Amino acid sequence: MALVQLFYSFAVLLRLALSVDHVPVLLWSTHSSLWNSEDTLQEGHVISKRELHMLLQPVFTQDSKNLVLFLQDTLSVEDFTYYSESFGNERPFHNVQGILKSSSSSLVLSAVDCQAISDLLDYLQESVNWKLTAIEESEVSKLEVDTSKPNIFVVKLQPISRLNDISTAKAFAANDKIIGRLTMILQEKGIQFSVIYTAVRPSRILRTLDVVLESRRRLMAIEAQETLQQHPLNVTNGTDICILFNASNFSLTANKTVHVDLTNLTFVSSKVNLSSSVCSATNATLSLNYDGLLDGINSLEIRFLMTNKFYSGSARDWFTLDSVEIVCNTKVARYNVSIISAPAEYSFHCQLVGTSSLYGAKLIPVNSEAKIWDVYISEFQIQGFNIKNNKFSYASDCTSFFSPGIWMGLVTSIVLLWILTYGVHMIMQLTTNSRFDDPKGTALSVPQTE
Ligand SMILES: *[C@@H]1O[C@H](CO)[C@@H](O)[C@H](O)[C@H]1NC(C)=O
Ligand SMILES: *[C@@H]1O[C@H](CO)[C@@H](O)[C@H](O)[C@H]1NC(C)=O
Ligand SMILES: *[C@@H]1O[C@H](CO)[C@@H](O)[C@H](O)[C@H]1NC(C)=O
Ligand SMILES: *[C@@H]1O[C@H](CO)[C@@H](O)[C@H](O)[C@H]1NC(C)=O
Ligand SMILES: *[C@@H]1O[C@H](CO)[C@@H](O)[C@H](O)[C@H]1NC(C)=O
Ligand SMILES: *[C@@H]1O[C@H](CO)[C@@H](O)[C@H](O)[C@H]1NC(C)=O
Ligand SMILES: *[C@@H]1O[C@H](CO)[C@@H](O)[C@H](O)[C@H]1NC(C)=O
Ligand SMILES: *[C@@H]1O[C@H](CO)[C@@H](O)[C@H](O)[C@H]1NC(C)=O
Ligand SMILES: *[C@@H]1O[C@H](CO)[C@@H](O)[C@H](O)[C@H]1NC(C)=O
Repeated sequence: MALVQLFYSFAVLLRLALSVDHVPVLLWSTHSSLWNSEDTLQEGHVISKRELHMLLQPVFTQDSKNLVLFLQDTLSVEDFTYYSESFGNERPFHNVQGILKSSSSSLVLSAVDCQAISDLLDYLQESVNWKLTAIEESEVSKLEVDTSKPNIFVVKLQPISRLNDISTAKAFAANDKIIGRLTMILQEKGIQFSVIYTAVRPSRILRTLDVVLESRRRLMAIEAQETLQQHPLNVTNGTDICILFNASNFSLTANKTVHVDLTNLTFVSSKVNLSSSVCSATNATLSLNYDGLLDGINSLEIRFLMTNKFYSGSARDWFTLDSVEIVCNTKVARYNVSIISAPAEYSFHCQLVGTSSLYGAKLIPVNSEAKIWDVYISEFQIQGFNIKNNKFSYASDCTSFFSPGIWMGLVTSIVLLWILTYGVHMIMQLTTNSRFDDPKGTALSVPQTE
């Protein structure tokens, strides 16, 4: 019992230590230039109550003060990335995205201390003598605004049911419609206003692999009907598929002038020779051979060299794409790859991979031959190990912070926590001696027979 309690309190402590609870805050306004680019604070920084109040100042100094506060129960910045595209038939953040884009000023804060949000309404009421109106979702269309006074409208959005991805997307889409409708009404009335969209708590997103796989599968099924022509490239070891590779655009430029678009050859017409590819449990090489491409390029081979290794600190296997080689007319251009790694059971996805330093995963030239090529691969996805059912596994994305280093840190702290918990448990098991020498009671007699 004590152990359970202890463990529970450690879990709470750990949670506190790992993350101050924070939520994203979206601000936009019809007033122009309320915020300048310096306000876009560094990623990874949790904005404190005081900083948030500073950022809200420009809203209070406008002539016509109307503020709408959309308050949801839970929201995390991952929701915007995960549900940003259309999801099944829903388009969860369609209106919000559009409004943010078209607003005269807008500011997206990805992490604001939750404490600042729970005190936000009190703070707002203290700062200006607002007329506060709470609006129910059903009353949005009948909104009356008296612009002679500063107004604050508080709209409590419906709770997000996070049973599964579909219900979550639906709930977001419903709230998004309310936001869109109210914004439209205020705009039609010609009222100047500012908006805050946030939530009371962050969402604890614990997506199980199955849920993600299921939704990916569903999405892929929809896409497959629409585009029959493009399919991922596959390499077999004779019996099973051992390498999968996909991209929406795969092109090269030599000497800044010669463009070679390999997308159709690779993924549509499959005019690529894969016979030099190699698969094993520890090494995999995807070799793409094209011939008779253009004048001046008689043969072109592109190799992706992958390895699968056990990293003891993380207690699991990781696969990495170690290097990329372009062999053109027997000259070899070699690149190191910046950060392509994923747990070995996963695939790896990155929106942009190539030689430009702006891309999510970079190809770093190792020899002078490499400098003549520009590589551009969009919607890159690769898997060289542990392919199940001839399909990509769950994709670890280059934008996520899922790296061997972080994994090692997590595993190490969990192990240390267990040791500590065990130690404290042992200490609590120690009981005081039940029989001390009591002067009033009968003396403790020690038989001295020999
Ligand atoms: C593997 O690729 C071939 C074309 O090279 C294609 O016909 C086949 O459907 C692919 N298999 C899978 C499981 O994607
Ligand atoms: C191909 O790979 C599968 C799974 O990794 C393995 O079971 C099979 O023996 C391999 N086949 C050949 C011909 O190497
Ligand atoms: C492969 O990439 C194309 C283009 O991005 C995409 O339409 C398709 O769904 C992808 N296929 C798989 C199986 O991921
Ligand atoms: C791939 O990108 C290049 C340059 O960005 C473009 O010229 C080409 O048309 C694209 N190819 C496809 C198939 O979209
Ligand atoms: C690029 O330029 C170099 C030297 O200027 C030349 O040797 C090479 O053949 C060119 N490559 C292509 C693909 O045109
Ligand atoms: C690739 O194929 C598609 C359809 O098959 C075609 O519309 C497109 O123009 C082709 N792109 C290139 C660069 O050849
Ligand atoms: C593919 O390349 C290998 C050698 O690299 C060659 O033996 C084979 O004939 C080629 N296949 C095709 C279909 O061109
Ligand atoms: C795997 O690749 C490494 C270097 O990339 C090499 O040293 C090793 O011999 C390779 N192992 C196999 C089984 O091919
Ligand atoms: C490329 O990687 C190798 C092996 O990891 C390393 O020795 C080399 O210094 C790297 N080169 C560059 C230019 O980063």
